[in-house]
Amino acid sequence: MISHVYLQELIARTNIEELIGTYTPLKRAGRTYKGLCPFHSEKTPSFVVYPDSQSFYCFGCGVGGDAITFVKKINNLDYVESVKMLASRAGMKLPEEDDAQGTLRSRVLALNRDVARFYFACMNGEVGIAARKYWRGRGLSDATIRRFGLGYAPDSFGESLSYLKKKGYTQEEMLASGIVKKSEKGNLYDVFRNRVMIPIFDVRGNVIAFGGRNLGDEKPKYINSPETLIYKKSHTIFGLNIAKKSTSRRYILCEGYLDVISLHQAGFDTAVAACGTALTPEQVRIISDYADEVVLCYDGDEAGQKATARAMELFSNSTVKVTVLTLPAAKDPDEFIKRRGADAFRHLLDGAGNALEYKMAKVKEQYDITVPDGLLNYLKDCIEILAQQATPTEQDVYAGRLAQETGVEKQRILQQLETVAKNYSKRRQRQIQQDLLKEGINSIRLPLGVSGNQALGAANAEQQLIGALLKQPELLEQVKGNLRPEELILPEMRQTYSLILQRNKEQLSFELATLSGELSDEVMAQLSRVLAQNYEIQFTPGDIQLYLSRIQGAKHQSKEAAKMEPDQLAAYLQKLKQQKKPTDFSGDE
Ligand code: GTP
Ligand code: MN
Repeated sequence: MISHVYLQELIARTNIEELIGTYTPLKRAGRTYKGLCPFHSEKTPSFVVYPDSQSFYCFGCGVGGDAITFVKKINNLDYVESVKMLASRAGMKLPEEDDAQGTLRSRVLALNRDVARFYFACMNGEVGIAARKYWRGRGLSDATIRRFGLGYAPDSFGESLSYLKKKGYTQEEMLASGIVKKSEKGNLYDVFRNRVMIPIFDVRGNVIAFGGRNLGDEKPKYINSPETLIYKKSHTIFGLNIAKKSTSRRYILCEGYLDVISLHQAGFDTAVAACGTALTPEQVRIISDYADEVVLCYDGDEAGQKATARAMELFSNSTVKVTVLTLPAAKDPDEFIKRRGADAFRHLLDGAGNALEYKMAKVKEQYDITVPDGLLNYLKDCIEILAQQATPTEQDVYAGRLAQETGVEKQRILQQLETVAKNYSKRRQRQIQQDLLKEGINSIRLPLGVSGNQALGAANAEQQLIGALLKQPELLEQVKGNLRPEELILPEMRQTYSLILQRNKEQLSFELATLSGELSDEVMAQLSRVLAQNYEIQFTPGDIQLYLSRIQGAKHQSKEAAKMEPDQLAAYLQKLKQQKKPTDFSGDE
């Protein structure tokens, strides 16, 4: 833990608008600063910095937080590293290296490296005959096996365990690594048994987790390390530690570990795969730091196509160009390379269609374009796609191609496109507003006996209440005796409120910028959004009273709201209306 006093000094010495201004030009707008969001590509600014609360929030992509979160995200660093970076920027001496947590972290990193060596040795020893045969059967050379550090976990409940014990690791360290687990009876045992092992590295080349594959066809095919203090799936890209050394900035994103390994062996050194089940915005951002172009190369099955659509969507918010590669007659890149060789794959890569072409080709499959009706529908859908997703240049190019293909004049297609695009941008503006209101509310888990509307009202009130406390800490006096954390239904708000209470008990302050060490990036973004939405609002004790009764009204199903004084109710509704007013991004306020 970095001390509270230290953090407060760091925040006091950090000018958030100056910090962020070095990454994206900011323009003053009243008490705030606006600019183009550095986390997604946009043409009109929806990224706002709030010096008052030392926070930032992007109304376009929902990213938000304090100075530390900003440094974390923009440089892909962890919390402590970010604090250090800000400290050196502010000319402060570095924080005392976090004792317990920091030590455990480095111990677990060392443990992972050791156990990777152990698995490698087992593979090369007598117990590893089947494993060596397996890798050989998958067509992997010794050089590839070495390069990826592949290995074998022996068929035993205790060999990794006793190896680690001998190396001097404690029970706490072993459990924290996810390599061993504790049985119900309290005995430790190896998680990976009789599996070929694939180490997962972070960008810096530390082993942070493992994927363990069955040598045969039994289920489950893979056992993967759980999330640990050094492994966050949603932030990890398999193969990136090698890919980042490539001179090419065209990355190949595929699904499986073995696709990546196989592609590297065939000479495609920018192949990577996302860890975890679905590609995350965080992973997209990380890839965007290294790649200018990403070729999506997912499996040809339905799941693979769904994943492709999702990836296209996520990358459309980034600066990375996306192309899609469809593999003829093979289920994945690994199989394709085995059957047809590296040259054939390179050939496909060079001809990979871009995302627009892919989408239009998909639409075309749906219609019979030899009949007028089908042709018109095809044209209509393509115009819709181009209006939503294409740059003006692309619109021009594809309007030309469509004209040739359909026999409709290019000029007419362009006119149509313009009309659709206008409607679309209006709709989109409205959608952003709705999303904003809905955001954070989809994580409600409804308690028994509470109706949906009540819960929504309460969820809204919870966010407002927490926002009020962060903005005006003195209001806590009115809240703390009257509300217990368990009464909140949004897990994020409950967690924040508990933290606020705890800080208050220890007589520490709880401004947003001191919380990022203990709250996840997602929670920080939510809090920043609430602050952004309320930055002009001065909360009154009356507001607090209303929020409390809304929260508790939902819980007890009482008729609290009916008991509200008419003027209280009016003020409340007025405030709600104000919040629903669309934010104008175009001018200064
Ligand atoms: P092969 O089938 O041996 O070629 O492996 P692969 O690495 O190409 O995996 P595949 O394409 O089948 O699956 C893609 C990814 O999903 C894998 O790399 C794993 O990360 C994950 N995965 C696949 N099967 C399982 C499973 O049974 N359990 C878990 N937790 N993850 C799996
Ligand atoms: Mn595969």
